[in-house]
Amino acid sequence: MRTIRVGLGERAYDILIENGLLAAIGADLKQRAIAKRYVVVADSQVVELLGGRLMESLTAAGVAAEIITFPWGEASKHLATVAELASKLAQLGLDRKDALIALGGGVTGDITGFLAAIYMRGIPFVQIPTTLLAQVDSSVGGKTGVDIPEGKNLVGAFYQPRCVYIDSSVLMTLPSAELLNGLAEVIKYGVIYDAEFFRYLARQRQAILNRDLAVLEEVIARCCEIKAEVVAADEREADLRRILNFGHTLGHAVEAASSYALAHGLAVGLGMAAACRLAVGKGIFSQAQAEEVCRLLADYGLPTKIPAEFSPQQIKAFLKTDKKTVGGRPFFVLPTEIGKVVITDTVSEELLDEILGAG
Ligand code: GLY
Repeated sequence: MRTIRVGLGERAYDILIENGLLAAIGADLKQRAIAKRYVVVADSQVVELLGGRLMESLTAAGVAAEIITFPWGEASKHLATVAELASKLAQLGLDRKDALIALGGGVTGDITGFLAAIYMRGIPFVQIPTTLLAQVDSSVGGKTGVDIPEGKNLVGAFYQPRCVYIDSSVLMTLPSAELLNGLAEVIKYGVIYDAEFFRYLARQRQAILNRDLAVLEEVIARCCEIKAEVVAADEREADLRRILNFGHTLGHAVEAASSYALAHGLAVGLGMAAACRLAVGKGIFSQAQAEEVCRLLADYGLPTKIPAEFSPQQIKAFLKTDKKTVGGRPFFVLPTEIGKVVITDTVSEELLDEILGAG
């Protein structure tokens, strides 16, 4: 088993990674004694796939737990779901000595973390992410929240889990589109932080796409290590944590322009390719390295050109409403070499038009 510590002082926690870990979670939770009773929160699909296995592990270890569910999908990620789940917790008599377990992908982790942050003004929770995207990104770092009609993730809290359990073997049954969704975020870590990891991803592409579990475990562990380091240095995204938004400035705008029909990872892939072109246009990144990044994205099957159906005007309009726009100026995370980025709000309108037009 690999253990990665997220060093946040009194809110520090472990990320545990192992193939088959689901079966050992009960015993580990028993030992950690985080709570006297747990409520597992899962969506209607994940509960069918993994709910029984988790409950077996908890029961075998003598951990008291029950499951509550909500309908699968991003459409559930709103305040009404949180209110309904909070009522269920109250009806079950859950109190401050109890805890929640988020079993599922990013939507489940975000909803459950936010519910844990506000139920009785805060109860502990643990994360069991079951998609690659959630394992390498959303389950670590304490960003929780829901969407409102005005935008995604606009209501939420920074609230850290007490532990994150990652069983890489659950990825064997993940739909390919979901794997791809997570791989965009995986490539992101290489570009922003670790050139050697970027090259490892190029070398191991076939093994990763074939879901070689030993390689996937290595990949997940490196992503979590990087995220843990960044979050420990800047939990509330005052500065360094903003590098995790590489590809997200234009990515979010394209995602919004598609009315969220485009998957997050694909949108981030497009955003990363566009950010590379912006960096070349600003004269801070070489054309050769930009091509290397775009080639890796394409080799993994991620699109690198913003579809023509999204006009530059449309994308720029969505940029203005994004959380990464402050005082009317969007910030961009741009690479200077593979493994290093800068954060800037000085991308000219002309350059943006050129890149979007050329996209
Ligand atoms: N997903 C970006 C972050 O957690 O900061």
